[in-house]
Amino acid sequence: MPICAPSSDSSASSASGGRAWIVHGLALGAAAAAAAAAAYLYRRPSGFRSRAVGIIPARFASSRFEGKPLAHILGKPMIQVESIYAVFSPGLGCGVVHDVSLFVPIVVATDDERIADCCRGFGADVIMTSESCRNGSERCCEALKKLGKRYDIVVNIQGDEPLIEPEIIDGVVMALQRAPDAVFSTAVTSLKPEDASDTNRVKCVVDNQGYAIYFSRGLIPSNKSGKVNPNYPYLLHLGISGFDSKFLMIYPELPPTPLQLEEDLEQLKVLENGYRMKVIKVDHDAHGVDAPEDVEKIEELMRAKNIQ
Ligand SMILES: *[C@@H]1O[C@H](CO)[C@@H](O)[C@H](O)[C@H]1NC(C)=O
Ligand SMILES: *[C@@H]1O[C@H](CO)[C@@H](O)[C@H](O)[C@H]1NC(C)=O
Repeated sequence: MPICAPSSDSSASSASGGRAWIVHGLALGAAAAAAAAAAYLYRRPSGFRSRAVGIIPARFASSRFEGKPLAHILGKPMIQVESIYAVFSPGLGCGVVHDVSLFVPIVVATDDERIADCCRGFGADVIMTSESCRNGSERCCEALKKLGKRYDIVVNIQGDEPLIEPEIIDGVVMALQRAPDAVFSTAVTSLKPEDASDTNRVKCVVDNQGYAIYFSRGLIPSNKSGKVNPNYPYLLHLGISGFDSKFLMIYPELPPTPLQLEEDLEQLKVLENGYRMKVIKVDHDAHGVDAPEDVEKIEELMRAKNIQ
């Protein structure tokens, strides 16, 4: 069910209007309480990289899941479920309820009119990007250029984790604000032992300051026994990344690197080029939606958690 009338504005200029609509369309009491807690917990350092925007890149064509952003989860398009979650990020979204100065928009970047129409229909802001974008970061880069406003941080909120908690989005923003030497930030959570050999679940190792050392589709670190060590705290990478916006502008142009190509992991390009990446560890029950059969699993989970 759309929670507000579709807007015909295709640019981000109606950012505040769109956001306000989404917030009003939800339980305001809960939002206000969350915002109050958030304002207290996450007082953002002023100044350094203070302006952040969240971008949800969404395309229709996909080899594994055609039309994924519009696939319904408990009766709502996935992109809507995801956008509403993102809006509740303390730093990015909930701040709007109490303090207008904290307001930072979240926009959907797409090349597809069906997705754009759907998003405008529930009050999201949409940026049209070209069909030639090869992946989400290219799309975020193009959207950033088209946004017209200056932002210091861009959070790429990927569609394969529709239930990414808002606190995680905020954490990724703060990681970049607190680590001036990093140009990229991302999040990991505990890897379930049963996911150890799944090559779609990307593993990560970090140094003792929380900077990324490496990412792999294989199990890292690897144990002498050749088996999964049930006692080792392996880390699972989550599909969310924060970019310093100046870095995002050059990132698509950086040539591919050998490890990136071999593992087919874009984030390795950051590390192989010698840039620093800050990683936050979060509590998150990962439930990626990579294929149509994942939808049922996520619906089950939403029912169990009483999420509508
Ligand atoms: C390696 O993994 C096994 C279980 O798979 C565990 O018993 C052992 O303690 C781990 N560590 C080392 C150093 O072997
Ligand atoms: C995404 O696009 C960039 C170029 O913008 C390219 O270097 C990178 O390899 C691509 N990543 C994937 C996973 O295709």
